Amino acid sequence: MLNLDGLTRYYGSFPALEDLTLTVEDGCLHGFVGPNGAGKTTTMRILATLLKPTRGSAQVDGVDVVQNGHEARKHIGYMPDFFGVYDNLTCEEYLDFYARCYRLAARDRKRMAAQLLELVQLEDKRETYVDSLSRGMKQRLCLARSLIHDPSLLILDEPASGMDPRARADMKGILRTLREMGKTVLISSHILPELSEMCDSLTILDHGHLVFSGTVEALADKMNGNAPLDIRLREGCGEAAVENAVSCLKEIPFVTEILQPEPFLLRVRLEGGEEESGRLLQEMIRRETPVCDFHRAPMNLEKVFMEVTGDA
Ligand SMILES: Nc1ncnc2c1ncn2[C@@H]1O[C@H](COP(=O)(O)OP(=O)(O)OP(=O)(O)O)[C@@H](O)[C@H]1O
Ligand SMILES: [Mg+2]
Repeated sequence: MLNLDGLTRYYGSFPALEDLTLTVEDGCLHGFVGPNGAGKTTTMRILATLLKPTRGSAQVDGVDVVQNGHEARKHIGYMPDFFGVYDNLTCEEYLDFYARCYRLAARDRKRMAAQLLELVQLEDKRETYVDSLSRGMKQRLCLARSLIHDPSLLILDEPASGMDPRARADMKGILRTLREMGKTVLISSHILPELSEMCDSLTILDHGHLVFSGTVEALADKMNGNAPLDIRLREGCGEAAVENAVSCLKEIPFVTEILQPEPFLLRVRLEGGEEESGRLLQEMIRRETPVCDFHRAPMNLEKVFMEVTGDA
């Protein structure tokens, strides 16, 4: 459905996006996450045919967005991060205007506008002037506008920014409906936990580079695999016992880092998975270290975001 191959964009000599290769399957809700300046909007503007890539290609439904922008636009609905609305138009007239831009037949325009206003829960605002809507309502109207020509792919650049919690929940509901309608959705946000709740798969970008792409479960597995082991020693077991535990850990070849965040807590990173952590525990018990708790601290998604976008 959506294929990006080596997509790269420089602004002058500044690399805003480098070598992004990515596939999003049909009917997927795909989250695009990254801190400010990561290159999310740059990528989305390229896909929406508003910006030319420096290198690389992107295809939507097999249509190349760079070579064949006119055809690609029929498949794409785009909601930009910032947008203006016209004065002196009601919501219905606003959607009718865009429907005309896409050359919808007169008999379809009214029906489509009514359906979309219902989808974004603005049916009671049909006759309201667009510039008098609240910000959250304008965002929903803009989403409706991006759907007017029934595109298969929706590109939504931070559609829920600035919305209150109730409105964000409503937006999630609308996105789920879109997925049920069979649309493919690419949606950007800074908020990883929020996206991971509703998306099937995610891409994390940082400084124009892909940091991760895959399912939400794969991201959690990847991060938990790297999570440190917390080894708690019996409170008050004495300095000698702690020193003994530390020297035991130092002798284990696959231990890569030993921290002591609290007097009786050792935090260890190691190369390897469950087998290695099991061997480590066996060795500590053999050396009679007073271990009373031993576990891998699960990463929450906020930590994952900070960690994966941390040091680039
Ligand atoms: N027109 C431009 N000219 C020069 N540099 C630009 C231009 N547009 C974007 N950039 C730079 O490219 C980088 C990526 O910007 P982009 O807007 O794609 O990031 P973003 O991930 O959407 O960030 P945000 O979360 O703040 O919306 C930034 O460093 C930005 O300063
Ligand atoms: Mg942006």
